[in-house]
Amino acid sequence: MVLLWLLFAVSKVSCKFEFTNIKCTSLDEKFAGVEYCYLKSVNRSYKYLSLKVNLFKTPITKIKINAALYKRFNGYRPFMYNITVDFLKNPSSNAAMNYLFGFFRNFSNINHTCPYDHDIIVDKLDINAANLQVTKVLPVPEGDYLVETHWIAYDIDRAIVKVYCSVS
Ligand SMILES: *[C@@H]1O[C@H](CO)[C@@H](O)[C@H](O)[C@H]1NC(C)=O
Ligand SMILES: *[C@@H]1O[C@H](CO)[C@@H](O)[C@H](O)[C@H]1NC(C)=O
Ligand SMILES: *[C@@H]1O[C@H](CO)[C@@H](O)[C@H](O)[C@H]1NC(C)=O
Ligand SMILES: *[C@@H]1O[C@H](CO)[C@@H](O)[C@H](O)[C@H]1NC(C)=O
Repeated sequence: MVLLWLLFAVSKVSCKFEFTNIKCTSLDEKFAGVEYCYLKSVNRSYKYLSLKVNLFKTPITKIKINAALYKRFNGYRPFMYNITVDFLKNPSSNAAMNYLFGFFRNFSNINHTCPYDHDIIVDKLDINAANLQVTKVLPVPEGDYLVETHWIAYDIDRAIVKVYCSVS
């Protein structure tokens, strides 16, 4: 408990979250297309991430998401988490995935269980909200990170979204 509290207290004063890059790649243009995917800096304190992925074969009734965390040491190395969840069945079943979705929940239309019959949008997920998640919800150690997610529909890898960020 003391250690947790310490971590919490330390991270509270020192944590600063930044997005550093984003890359969205469709592996199957007939299935999914990236309409946009970018970071935008409005000013020093307001930076956000937006993306829109068009789905061409809707409704989609089977989708899994694999998320792996990488941390930069000497190049990006797998770090702690590599999880796959069956999104339409039970998206909240995995604590780590739940934490990851905590970043997007308020800014996207991906949080539901019905078959997907619409495009996927993340709208203006900003660093302040992300900062809240890495400082208040669960402290994350300092470093440069890459969150790589694979969107797997009907057991085929359809798209990759890579979000690079740093916590300092
Ligand atoms: C940054 O931009 C946001 C949105 O336009 C605005 O609300 C905020 O006041 C700006 N902050 C600074 C420091 O200019
Ligand atoms: C994560 O696990 C999957 C399935 O076991 C594997 O294919 C993939 O290479 C792993 N990714 C990383 C970054 O270790
Ligand atoms: C959607 O988000 C809310 C919290 O904002 C959560 O209670 C609910 O379980 C989520 N639903 C799914 C399907 O993940
Ligand atoms: C999402 O919204 C809820 C309720 O408005 C808020 O308590 C929570 O801190 C928000 N989370 C993020 C990551 O913005």
